[in-house]
Amino acid sequence: MNKIWWKESVVYQIYPRSFMDSNGDGIGDIQGIISKLDYLKELGVDVIWLCPVYESPNDDNGYDISNYQTIMDDFGTLADWEALLDGLHGRGMKLIMDLVVNHSSDEHAWFAEAKTSKDNRYRDYYIWRPGQGGREPNDWGSFFSGSAWQYEEQTDEYYLHLFSKKQPDLNWENQDLRQEIYKMMTWWLDKGIDGFRMDVINLISKDQELPSVGDGSSGSYHFGGQYFMNGPRVHEYLQEMNREVLSKYDIMTVGEAIGVTPEDAALYVGEDRNELNMVFHFELMDVDSGPGGKWDVKPWNLADFKRIISKWQTGLHGKGWNSLYLNNHDQPRMLSRFGNDSTYHKQSAKMLGTLLHTLQGTPYIYQGEELGMTNVQFNSILEYKDIETLNMYNEYIAAGHDEQVIMKSIYSKGRDNGRTPMQWNDGPHAGFTTGSPWIAVNPNYTTINAEQALNDPDSIFHYYKKLIRLRKEHNVTVYADYRPLMEDDHHVFAYVRTLGNEQLLVVLNFFETPADFTLEESVQYETKQLLISNYEVADDDDIRQIALRPYEARVYKLHGIH
Ligand code: NOJ
Repeated sequence: MNKIWWKESVVYQIYPRSFMDSNGDGIGDIQGIISKLDYLKELGVDVIWLCPVYESPNDDNGYDISNYQTIMDDFGTLADWEALLDGLHGRGMKLIMDLVVNHSSDEHAWFAEAKTSKDNRYRDYYIWRPGQGGREPNDWGSFFSGSAWQYEEQTDEYYLHLFSKKQPDLNWENQDLRQEIYKMMTWWLDKGIDGFRMDVINLISKDQELPSVGDGSSGSYHFGGQYFMNGPRVHEYLQEMNREVLSKYDIMTVGEAIGVTPEDAALYVGEDRNELNMVFHFELMDVDSGPGGKWDVKPWNLADFKRIISKWQTGLHGKGWNSLYLNNHDQPRMLSRFGNDSTYHKQSAKMLGTLLHTLQGTPYIYQGEELGMTNVQFNSILEYKDIETLNMYNEYIAAGHDEQVIMKSIYSKGRDNGRTPMQWNDGPHAGFTTGSPWIAVNPNYTTINAEQALNDPDSIFHYYKKLIRLRKEHNVTVYADYRPLMEDDHHVFAYVRTLGNEQLLVVLNFFETPADFTLEESVQYETKQLLISNYEVADDDDIRQIALRPYEARVYKLHGIH
């Protein structure tokens, strides 16, 4: 595998609305981020992924963009953004921007034009169809509940919106639209950014027949993914984008890709494919979803969890590069989901962090993860802000579901779990704002906060700092291959990674009950070196047989014969 900077980097994701407010309006902003650059430098991350900061009516917190080349007033100005870029580059860090081009806002100038008449120049920038028998053109449901189509009276047609009705899908079949997007991307790249995270990029090409999923008899909406995930022209578009834009710069790209398998992913990230560098897949994030989808919460188990990770580690090895993440702004907090956010808060956060930093791929840390921030439980639905959550709640209530059951699923899966303000200190509103925050702070900020973490040498923050440093100091953590150990064990996650005559041995106890690890005979070595652990470990500890404590994590580097 080729060596390159973005494989050796650790990325830190910032959700600007919730990171740091500099002007007391209760909304995080760019000057707020600038005030925390030294904190990020101290952590040691290499790249910042900034969620959308563009002009937006905020139906979906910035993922509905009304102007791709201006900054949202709530967040500041272009001059602020330039200062942020300089501040990062000056500290040796890079910046990747969110590229949201499957859809725009309905308040984008293109859409304002497009809806006025069928022969408007911008009409074809979006996807319009006449109704069918007094109903929508097909039975596709939106990711945010209800139909994926919205009727527009002025021209008596419907437009497609896979997300909210304020997020009309762009029509990539139109060459002028594609050129406008490439021009806009070039404009940002010429400002000196270091790459893009591409929002739902595997949805941009739709089957032009736009077929219904069901036979229409039920009258309900269905997930139409088979007609727009990895659609017929997606690779052609990405290769064109690569040829015309990406290939001209030394940058990194990561595409969010819903429903992809490692085989699909290899087509996006194959090193000879000239498309993207990495994709975010969803298989691990679906590990606790039942047949009814994300809100149909089922308990996850370690067997599935390990199987999915192993499949991706071996599936892409030698072909393309993995991205590694355990949470982001769309997911619950990893610690509440896969760890233990009470008794073993510290231990389990460190254990999960160890997993994140010792697989093959580029790790993505989500803001607050390095502090062990947790899910939140607001008493009333009125405190929730996320459009996906609110639409689901209203739909389920209207359909007669039990309110308590709905709230329970929001507590475990709602996106606002990851969107409460960053916890900087134990002062009012966790030091996030001097005003009134746009979403309430998690009450546990009095004990879980950055100030406390920086002062505690044994904190999750300092452990993450060390993990990030290990990726710099030991190539084996980045480039080595992956082989699972104790595959059938439902308690311990262990693997060995090999590069030349070095091996990395990773042993993780995923639960609070003690567990035994046995190192199989086939793993041979001459000397061992403990790189990191979340408990005290004696130098002469026998690693052929380890009695693991609750959520214990150990990483050894093995030298010599294997
Ligand atoms: C994925 C983004 O991460 C999410 O926050 C957003 O709601 C959808 N795409 C639509 O843009």
